[in-house]
Amino acid sequence: MTITPLVASSPDRPRVTWCRAEVLVNSHRADRYRHLRLSAPDIAATARPGQFVMLTAARENTAGPLLPRPMAIYTRDADAGTIDVLYGVVGEGTRALSTFVPGERMVVVGPLGQGFVLDEGTRRVLLVGRGIGVCSLTTVAEYPVELLAVLSARNAAAVLGTDVFGRAMVVTDAEGTSGVDVLAARLCTELDRRPPQQILTCGSERLARMCAGLGARWGASVQVSLEAHMACGLGYCHGCAAPGDTGPSPLVCRDGPVFGLSAPA
Ligand SMILES: Cc1cc2nc3c(=O)[nH]c(=O)nc-3n(C[C@H](O)[C@H](O)[C@H](O)COP(=O)(O)OP(=O)(O)OC[C@H]3O[C@@H](n4cnc5c(N)ncnc54)[C@H](O)[C@@H]3O)c2cc1C
Ligand code: FES
Repeated sequence: MTITPLVASSPDRPRVTWCRAEVLVNSHRADRYRHLRLSAPDIAATARPGQFVMLTAARENTAGPLLPRPMAIYTRDADAGTIDVLYGVVGEGTRALSTFVPGERMVVVGPLGQGFVLDEGTRRVLLVGRGIGVCSLTTVAEYPVELLAVLSARNAAAVLGTDVFGRAMVVTDAEGTSGVDVLAARLCTELDRRPPQQILTCGSERLARMCAGLGARWGASVQVSLEAHMACGLGYCHGCAAPGDTGPSPLVCRDGPVFGLSAPA
């Protein structure tokens, strides 16, 4: 599979701002995931689907963790000036995030990166997300197009995104419905007669490969949101280079996280 930076990258991206955002909610959501709601009016007003924020989990005068952690914007409310993030507690940074209580302030930088781009004329979009990767796809629901969302997870309790997508196909390992062969066959049966014009995916390399194959079958363009370890999120440290064949590797934080994806010829 080949990834390419989207042509629409850069020039008209929203201005990146930082703020000491008030924590409004930080509570258990489902399975191993937590819900964080922050008051961040500038970011809430300008973020585009697929963009992310960097959250600093260190408090003033504490030792760490010093580096901020990238998190997708799950939903935003421009009128209320709030952004929502769903996160899994996996290590030091996310453990520290989970200790913030409502009323505290957290340093937030965003909106960052290249989000999903819908082509002119796109009316029908297939979204395919796995686990926490679904969180990078949910703001696509802001686009006025027909969406079919495939939400994949280990089991029913771990499925994210059902509150955002009215029409969703939920597939799980527990039910044996999430395997790529089973899923690809089901999608072909349901969509071959009226395929989507674009496919957007996040959260699983195997599903991304499946999407690239379906894109080739249907003549649909495919975009993938990639994950990478990030130190700055701003294009300075070059710690988040994406895998590339030749030449300088694109940076996931600056040139992505959303890239065009194509199947091998
Ligand atoms: C653009 C982007 C959006 C993201 N959105 C979300 C989100 O909405 N919700 C969410 O829960 N997480 C999201 N992540 C992943 C999140 O940033 C990491 O889980 C977090 O930084 C881990 O920090 P930590 O200190 O708790 O874990 P660490 O101690 O740094 O790592 C714990 C474990 O997680 C692995 N890990 C850490 N960061 C990543 C990464 N970026 N990719 C793959 N494996 C990693 C480590 O290798 C290690 O095994 C996103 C990442 C990116 C790049
Ligand atoms: S995280 Fe520093 S350049 Fe991407």
